[in-house]
Formats: sequence, C-alpha cells, structure tokens
Amino acid sequence: MTNLLEHNRAAWNEEVKKGNQWTIPAVKEDIEKAKNGSFQIVLTPFKPVPADWLGNIKGKNILCLASGGGQQGPILAAAGAKVTVFDNSDQQLKRDQDAANEYDLDLKTVQGNMQDLSCFPDLSFDLIIHPVSNCFIDDILPVWKESFRVLKVNGRILSGFCNPIMYMIDWEKADKSNRYQLAHAIPYSDLKSLTPKMKQKYVKEKSVFEFGHSFTDQIQGQLDAGFVLTGFYEDKGGDLLDKFTDTFVATNALKMG
Ligand SMILES: C[S@@+](CC[C@H](N)C(=O)[O-])C[C@H]1O[C@@H](n2cnc3c(N)ncnc32)[C@H](O)[C@@H]1O
Repeated sequence: MTNLLEHNRAAWNEEVKKGNQWTIPAVKEDIEKAKNGSFQIVLTPFKPVPADWLGNIKGKNILCLASGGGQQGPILAAAGAKVTVFDNSDQQLKRDQDAANEYDLDLKTVQGNMQDLSCFPDLSFDLIIHPVSNCFIDDILPVWKESFRVLKVNGRILSGFCNPIMYMIDWEKADKSNRYQLAHAIPYSDLKSLTPKMKQKYVKEKSVFEFGHSFTDQIQGQLDAGFVLTGFYEDKGGDLLDKFTDTFVATNALKMG
C-alpha cells in the first residue's frame, strides 16, 4: 500500500465511479428551492440538521469539511453562503465544482487532508459542516484542534460521526447469518485488524479503510480543543442494528467568545 491518504483518495474516487450514495450531488430542484430560501442538509444518513443549528447562513463563510460529493456545499451556496468544500478526493470535489459551475454558485473547492487545515488562516470561517467522514482517518484529534483554529469566535462546527458500536460488530457474519457478534475493540483500525490477505484485497479492489473512534476522542476531543457542546442528536444507519439502537451521532459545538 502507498499511504492511507493516497489509498483512501483512490478508494473514494472509485466510490464515485460506483455511484455510492454519498457521491451523488444535490438535484436541480433542491438547488432552486435553496435559492428561494428553503433547504435542508444532513450530517448523518437521514435526519436533517435542525434549522436553528444553521441559523442565518446568508453571506457566511462556511467550510464543508471532508464533505465532497455535492450534497451539502452546493445547497448551502445556493442558500446564500460563501462555501469552501474541502476533501481528499478530487472526484468528490469535482461533483461540487460541477454544481458550482452549473448553478453559478459562490463555492470553491480545496483538496487536502482534514487533519491538516494549514492552508486556511486562523479565524477564517463562521461555520464548519463536517458530515460523517472521520471514520476514514486514524486520528481525529487534529481535526477538532484545526477546526477550532480556523473558526471565528462564536463560530460553530456541526459534525456527524459513527457510534463506535458500528466497528465492534463482525459485519460479514452479521450480514450472512443475521446474528451479531462483538468482534472488535474500540478504538478500531482496519489497518491493524485486517489480515495481510484482506488488506491486499482492499488495496486491489480500492476499498476504503475505516476506523472506529471512541466517544472520548469524538466528544472529549472536541471539548479539549476548546469547544462547548450545545447540541446533540442520534440517527439511524439503515442497517440491521437500527432495531436496537441509533448508530450515528451529530453534535453542535461552539467556539465561545
Ligand atoms: C461519506 S463521504 C462524506 C461526504 C458527504 N458529502 C456526506 O454528505 O456525508 C466521506 C468523505 O470524506 C472524504 N475523506 C476521507 N478521508 C479524508 C481526509 N483524510 N481528508 C479529507 N477528506 C477525506 C472522502 O473523500 C469522502 O468524500
């Protein structure tokens, strides 16, 4: 394998080819509605972000962090925000850029690693939208620290992430037998847990490597970075675990003045 960043870039570019649902951009109708002030976005699979989490976004500088694919950025730009979409995958960013060109939106794209936002000066953004994506990196603490730095005072980061139970399950067995077996400890890493043979298969098939982070890193990580948590909800994932528990989490964190 080359390195994680490069591998997962190729893997997400491949997801674009395969038509993964998180690579399908917003449709024209939703862009038009957003231009007329009516819009919704998600941080997690299903539940829309509460309107009061977003507030009035007109003219605001918004960073859509690891949020390529055209789901959030074009909608927010159509609703009047100045949007920067940041992502590791050039093909995901192309979705956003194409939408910006087609609908004449105030949206730019930047390619990079969410763990390193050094291309942005301190105090650059009013709002960061960070949908489920930190399961694709090995260490999430730099994301919270960097987000705190690039946010203006009184800015917010709205994040979606996985409940770690998602990474405890042996999904292959669960999918085959409808029975769940707890198989992995948290923190979980594909890189540490997969057999060399499986890793080779991932490389060959360009499958995305994933990581299951603890609630300590997800929640205390934000608090340690300096944020105050002001909102929380959970969401379903559309899989077998839904009848037992919600498997996705969204948080609203404030950089207080
Ligand atoms: C599930 S998609 C999320 C984006 C989508 N707009 C959504 O609504 O959830 C995960 C995204 O994270 C990006 N990503 C993965 N690792 C990254 C990294 N290290 N830095 C920046 N983006 C990364 C992928 O390229 C992909 O576009």
